[in-house]
Parts: sequence; C-alpha cells; structure tokens
Amino acid sequence: MPEITLRAANDADIEAVAGVWHRGWADGHAGHVPAGLHAHRTLEHFLGLVPSRIPITTVAVANGRVVGFVTMHDDEVEQVYVDASARGSGTAAILLDRGEEIVAATYDRAWLAVVAGNVRARRFYERRGWVDAGPFDYSAETDAGTFTVPALRYEKDLRTQTV
Ligand SMILES: CC(C)(COP(=O)(O)OP(=O)(O)OC[C@H]1O[C@@H](n2cnc3c(N)ncnc32)[C@H](O)[C@@H]1OP(=O)(O)O)[C@@H](O)C(=O)NCCC(=O)NCCS
Repeated sequence: MPEITLRAANDADIEAVAGVWHRGWADGHAGHVPAGLHAHRTLEHFLGLVPSRIPITTVAVANGRVVGFVTMHDDEVEQVYVDASARGSGTAAILLDRGEEIVAATYDRAWLAVVAGNVRARRFYERRGWVDAGPFDYSAETDAGTFTVPALRYEKDLRTQTV
C-alpha cells in the first residue's frame, strides 16, 4: 500500500468523500437494512450530506486520492468509511485512531452506531477496543418516510488511550 496521509477535509474533497460514502454504504448495509432504503441512498443523497460535514471530516489520502474519511460529532465517531481498494490495509485503523483522538480532547467516552448485520465493521471496531453497548432502532429519514434500521451502539472508554 502507498503511504497514507491524513488531513482536514476541504470543499475540493466533497465529490470524493461522497463517492467513498456512497459505495461503502452499499457494501456495509446491503442485506442488513430494509430493502426499500437502498433506492434513497443515491450518490446525490451523499453529495447532499457531505458539505455541512466538511468541518468535522478528516480524509485519508494515498497517491493524491481520497481513500477514506472519518467524521466526528461531539462524542460520536459518526462515519468511518474506506474505499474498497484500501480495506485490509490499516487505513481504517489510522482514521479511527484520529477520530478517537479528536473526541478524546473533550470527552472520556466515545460512541458510534453500526448496523447489526455489518459484521466486518463490527469486527474492526471490536479489534480496536470498542464494546457492544446494546441494540437500538436507528431511524433513517428519506423523502418517502422513515425506515427503521436495527443498529448497535458501540462505546469505547478513551481514558485508557495513550494519545
Ligand atoms: C468498516 C471498515 C471501515 C473497516 O475497514 P477495513 O480496512 O475493512 O478493516 P480491517 O480489514 O482492518 O478489519 C476488518 C476485520 O473484519 C474481518 N472481515 C473481513 N471481511 C469480513 C466479513 N465478510 N465478515 C466478517 N469479518 C470480516 C477482517 O478479517 C478483519 O478482521 P481481522 O483483522 O481480525 O482479520 C471498511 O470495511 C469499510 O469502509 N466498510 C464499508 C463502510 C462501512 O461499513 N463503514 C462502517 C459504518 S459503521
């Protein structure tokens, strides 16, 4: 794998981040969320979500290309997405470490939501010290109404971190 660089996202990254998010959403959620939700998770949907998140987004860059991103909102590591080409390479761990570091500047404990059926993501988080704190119903909003998605809340005590 080429060298991975982390940097704060900027508006020039909007399309690349939305593309990673769009493709990764399908990879992580297909078969694990209500089937009707897929039609609403278009590239345009993610292009609409990214701009307001740019100030809370860190991107991973390899060979000048955005290959992943993490967003933090208060004590939540809100999104961790890595392009298929960079999975299994350690890029996701570098991004998650940065997300935790940013949350740890203000909070002792971080949380995130993961779809129950997304076993690859769950294994990744668990290997990084996150624990399953229980199920909850995530309400996915769309133009056609709300879809209920079975999700899990994962938590990590950040006080044991050496950052
Ligand atoms: C989740 C994600 C960020 C993890 O990054 P990654 O580079 O794939 O993670 P890693 O390869 O380091 O770790 C994944 C673990 O799951 C395992 N794994 C791989 N495929 C798997 C599968 N189909 N089922 C179960 N476990 C699987 C891997 O072996 C690895 O575990 P190990 O290190 O103990 O062997 C990345 O897969 C991704 O972007 N997925 C799509 C988007 C997504 O789901 N984001 C998270 C939303 S909450």
